[in-house]
Formats: sequence, C-alpha cells, structure tokens
Amino acid sequence: MAVLAPLSFTWPGETPVSRVRLVSAPEEVDSRAALLVIDSRVETLWGARLLLNTPRVVIPGGEECKTPHNLEKLWKAFSEEGINRESTVCVAGGGSVCDLGAMAASTWMRGVRLELVPTTLLCMVDACLGGKTALNTHGTKNQVGTFHPAEDITICSAFLSTLPERELQAGFSEAVKTAVIGDPGILDFIRNRDFEGVVFRCLSVKGDIVLKDPHDRGIRRLLNLGHTLGHALEMLLPLSHGEAVALGMPAAARMGGAEGFARELAHVLASFGLPVLLPRPVSAGEALSLIRRDKKTGSAGTTWVVPRGWGDCGLVAIPPEREETLLEGALRVIRP
Ligand SMILES: NC(=O)c1ccc[n+]([C@@H]2O[C@H](COP(=O)([O-])OP(=O)(O)OC[C@H]3O[C@@H](n4cnc5c(N)ncnc54)[C@H](O)[C@@H]3O)[C@@H](O)[C@H]2O)c1
Repeated sequence: MAVLAPLSFTWPGETPVSRVRLVSAPEEVDSRAALLVIDSRVETLWGARLLLNTPRVVIPGGEECKTPHNLEKLWKAFSEEGINRESTVCVAGGGSVCDLGAMAASTWMRGVRLELVPTTLLCMVDACLGGKTALNTHGTKNQVGTFHPAEDITICSAFLSTLPERELQAGFSEAVKTAVIGDPGILDFIRNRDFEGVVFRCLSVKGDIVLKDPHDRGIRRLLNLGHTLGHALEMLLPLSHGEAVALGMPAAARMGGAEGFARELAHVLASFGLPVLLPRPVSAGEALSLIRRDKKTGSAGTTWVVPRGWGDCGLVAIPPEREETLLEGALRVIRP
C-alpha cells in the first residue's frame, strides 16, 4: 500500500488528521470499521472485493439519497450494529452516499470516527476531503450539514473502470474548477487521463485551502466556483452535480465581466465532454429564487466566486439590486 505522504492534512484544533492513501485494488482497502455504508451500485459491482468481513448497510446511490429518511435509516443501522464512540464507520461510494454517510457518522453520538472510500472521480478529486457533510431538504441543495473530516481516505482508481463516461466527465468538472482556482497543470493530467495524477493534484490544492479555512468563512469559499448558479441549475434541470458546476463556471466568469475567460473556460470544458449550453433556457428570476435561499446569500447579497483567468479567482459580494441584471448577462453565455 502506498501512502501519499504529502497528502496528510493536520486539522487545526481538536479535529483529527485526514490521511489520504492510494491502493491499487479494492482488496487492499485497509479498515478498522465496525460498519460499512455502501452505495448500492458499488455493492453490486465491487462489494465482493471490499471489506468482506465487515457488516454493511446498502444505500441506493445518486443525489436522491441525501434525505433525512436515509439519515434515519443509517442511525437505525448504527443502533442495531452497536456503533458507539469507540467505533469507526466506513463509507464507500460517490459524493452523494459519502455526504449522507458522513453526516450520519458526524451526528451519531455527536460524532464517530469516519473513513471514506470514494468510488467516483468527483468524490476522489473533491468530495472526500474537507469534512463537509450534507443533506438536501425543502427543494434546496446541501441546506443541512456538519463539518466532520474523515480520518482515513483511501483512493483506488480501479473503481473508475466501471464508472459511466458521463460520471467520469462530472469529475472532470470539479477538477477543472480546481485547475482554475489553483493549479492549471491539472488540465494536462485530465487530457492524458492520468486519474491518479488528477486526484493527487486536486487534493493537494483543496487540502491547502481547507487547512487555511476549515469552516468556510473566507478563502475556502473559492472552492464554490461555479456552485452558486450550479446548485440552482442542479435543482431546476436534469443535470448531475458536475454538469451543473460546468455550466456555472463560465457564467460566473461573465458575471465578473471576464468575457474572454468565460469563452476560454467553456472551450476547455467542452473539450472534456462537459455541457456548456443549458438543456433549456432558464431565466434569471427562476435561478435567483433558488440562489437567494442558498447558504452563500446573506443580507448584503450573494457572494459569487468570480474567475478572471487561470489561478486568478476572487470573491465578489453582488448587491441584490444588481444581481438580476448581471445574472441575465451571465445566463446568455450558456443559453441554448
Ligand atoms: N462534501 C463535499 O465537499 C462535496 C464536494 C463536491 C460534491 N459533493 C457532493 O457530491 C455529490 C455528487 O457526487 P458524485 O458525482 O460522486 O455522484 P453520486 O455519488 O451521486 O454517484 C453517481 C452515480 O455513480 C454511481 N457509482 C458510484 N461509484 C461507481 C462506480 N465505481 N462504478 C459505477 N457506478 C458508480 C452511483 O451509484 C450513482 O448512480 C453531490 O451531491 C455533491 O453535492 C460534496
């Protein structure tokens, strides 16, 4: 088992270290978990090769799983398995099951030790690190959540061999986001389909940012690039999280007046198979009704992450009276 030495993040205060390990086969995932929470598709495809002697609870994967009902289902399983404060829970799946399972681990007995085994590229490059847990409620995304970092994260790129191309592309979207925020070199790793390289570089950028601002009060908000509009589009249209973020990024660049970079970004995203036009027109009013219910909106307006070039992003608070006009212009960039 290779330990990716540079990817060991020590969290400030009392929160634990997140260690990221790389293994070459699911059988090499090393865990002390008393219970495995696993995405149903991953269970079908890979369950016979993963933590064979560990009791498991299977959750149908995908965005729809992030519900209070499934949280309750996991609490019930924790109770039946006797999970206590000395126990470890492992979650294997994409970002959806990991967000849900991590939320259950963070709330059970006010927090039990967590391990993550991400099985989608999006989860490997982004969702597995940083400690955010989340549920969707009342028509908005990630409205309920906690911070509960996994102590151990195991990356096994073999899982990607069964991932549909569209899901792989969703991972490219968060990787391009990370390239814009802090490391344009990531684009070459995507072009070469060097997935371990993409994961390593993305987690390095994200880890550095999260350590400076674990609770999302300042610089960490840069990681929301493309998400302000993206989350609204994800609720309105049949788009995956990654696809919605891909549409949100050029729009955010246009929002900040960087029209040339918006075009360049759209070109790069399209070259990786990502959508750069909406499946149907969306009005600024329609998107704003969701954006204004989002966590990124406060009394002074919404804070947008505005990219101006590779490695050049800023946080801009847009006053409510200007937002609709600016958003109309931004939506024009991605209108079908
Ligand atoms: N916590 C964070 O910091 C963070 C960051 C980014 C995204 N997210 C969240 O992640 C979620 C999106 O995650 P995602 O893109 O991984 O999608 P997902 O978890 O919804 O999985 C997508 C599909 O792929 C299937 N799948 C998973 N692994 C597979 C494999 N190896 N082979 C075949 N099929 C497989 C799943 O069953 C599901 O049908 C969103 O809810 C988003 O909000 C969280």
